[in-house]
Amino acid sequence: MSTPRDVAVLVGSLRKESYNRKLAMALAQVAPPELKLEIVEIGQLPLYNEDAEANAPAQWTAFRDRIRRADALLFVTPEYNRSVPAALKNAIDVGSRPYGSSAWDRKPGAVISASPGAIGGFGANHHLRQSLVFLNVPVLQMPEAYIGGVNKLFDDSGALNNESTRAFLGTFMTAFADWIERTAVA
Ligand SMILES: Cc1cc2nc3c(=O)[nH]c(=O)nc-3n(C[C@H](O)[C@H](O)[C@H](O)COP(=O)(O)O)c2cc1C
Repeated sequence: MSTPRDVAVLVGSLRKESYNRKLAMALAQVAPPELKLEIVEIGQLPLYNEDAEANAPAQWTAFRDRIRRADALLFVTPEYNRSVPAALKNAIDVGSRPYGSSAWDRKPGAVISASPGAIGGFGANHHLRQSLVFLNVPVLQMPEAYIGGVNKLFDDSGALNNESTRAFLGTFMTAFADWIERTAVA
């Protein structure tokens, strides 16, 4: 088998017991072997400030380099006030600069949102897609993934306890693997 695709996973929650982080771990477990998922941390990134670009913080540089190395991007996010959590938006902004050398450009992407609520983070999912259009990230269209009732999907050890969700996540990751092969630059 050829080298697995390096998928950078961006989790929109900084919470230690985050359901979205647990979901990201579950996605790594069900992903087909041609994908290797790794969570890329975003909580350490200083807030984006264009004035700092001349002497960019080391955390920005390391993050940009990590995203540049990735073959693909998987966003797993909660919804904050019907939109993208600030930490994730900050990471997107950091990766998008300096102007003309965005780390996101042309990387195949997928978005999955999750919430204890019934709408499953639909608002965050679609606000995120709006930024990804501008960043030239081709995003998987189908299946859409809005995971509602996420607070009921994990046991005390953090493992997924719902078989139909596991099957759906498997379908989602297989579709993403296919999307990466069809849209990856190299
Ligand atoms: C600042 C804030 C805003 C929130 N806004 C929404 C919202 O708009 N829609 C929603 O479904 N849940 C909202 N929630 C609830 C989150 O879905 C819930 O806290 C969820 O567990 C966060 O994801 P996590 O477990 O991965 O941290 C909000 C939570 C916070 C802290």
